[in-house]
Amino acid sequence: MTALRKTAVALISDAAPFVIRAERASDVVAREALLDACFGLNRHTRTCQRLRDGSAPAEGLAFSVVRQGRLIGTVRLWHVSAGGNPALVLGPLAVDASYRELGIGAALMNHALAAAKARGHGAVILLGDAPYYARFGFSALKTGELSLPGPFERDRLLGIELREGALDDAWGVIAPLGAAAPLGNLRPARRTRKSAPRAA
Ligand SMILES: CC(C)(COP(=O)(O)OP(=O)(O)OC[C@H]1O[C@@H](n2cnc3c(N)ncnc32)[C@H](O)[C@@H]1OP(=O)(O)O)[C@@H](O)C(=O)NCCC(=O)NCCS
Repeated sequence: MTALRKTAVALISDAAPFVIRAERASDVVAREALLDACFGLNRHTRTCQRLRDGSAPAEGLAFSVVRQGRLIGTVRLWHVSAGGNPALVLGPLAVDASYRELGIGAALMNHALAAAKARGHGAVILLGDAPYYARFGFSALKTGELSLPGPFERDRLLGIELREGALDDAWGVIAPLGAAAPLGNLRPARRTRKSAPRAA
């Protein structure tokens, strides 16, 4: 636990160091701008957003990647009930387009999963591209009987057990379970309809 509270630093060639640290209130504006750029302004209408609306992320499980004082990556995890099994939903995960393919996404995923495990969480679920998330151990092996509160693509509903058996017999609709978000952290209302990549 102590090690996970330390700031993680990675050095990469051809780029300045980046830092993975706990998200701060002062990150919110830059985080939202990054997510708008990555997923488009209609991202709030996606099914996974129904699991996050009005909730705060799970304690200690919201991370920012910062390079030279600028936020270039984000990931958060949220409490859900996966058909009665307590679990976390991960997302959205995003890295600034200028800094992709440098291992930042992998560093952020590994950091987040290690932190979730260290905090005693048993399983993480997400809606995303299997070819990307398989490298971290995600698969559809134990999510076949789960669904989301809205339209989703079955082959993108993936899970990983951080504790063996945590998703055994998981069945039913995944539902939010988190604490209410502080008012200042709620997203602003959006009305634009620009299309974009599918958000996790
Ligand atoms: C997905 C994302 C976070 C990866 O960040 P990153 O810092 O570039 O990731 P890494 O450098 O650790 O890994 C890059 C590798 O992932 C692969 N990859 C990236 N996105 C992928 C995808 N959707 N499907 C399959 N592979 C993918 C790259 O091809 C590269 O492969 P390689 O290691 O064989 O060269 C970033 O591309 C991003 O923010 N995309 C837009 C938002 C998004 O799609 N988020 C995920 C929702 S499903």
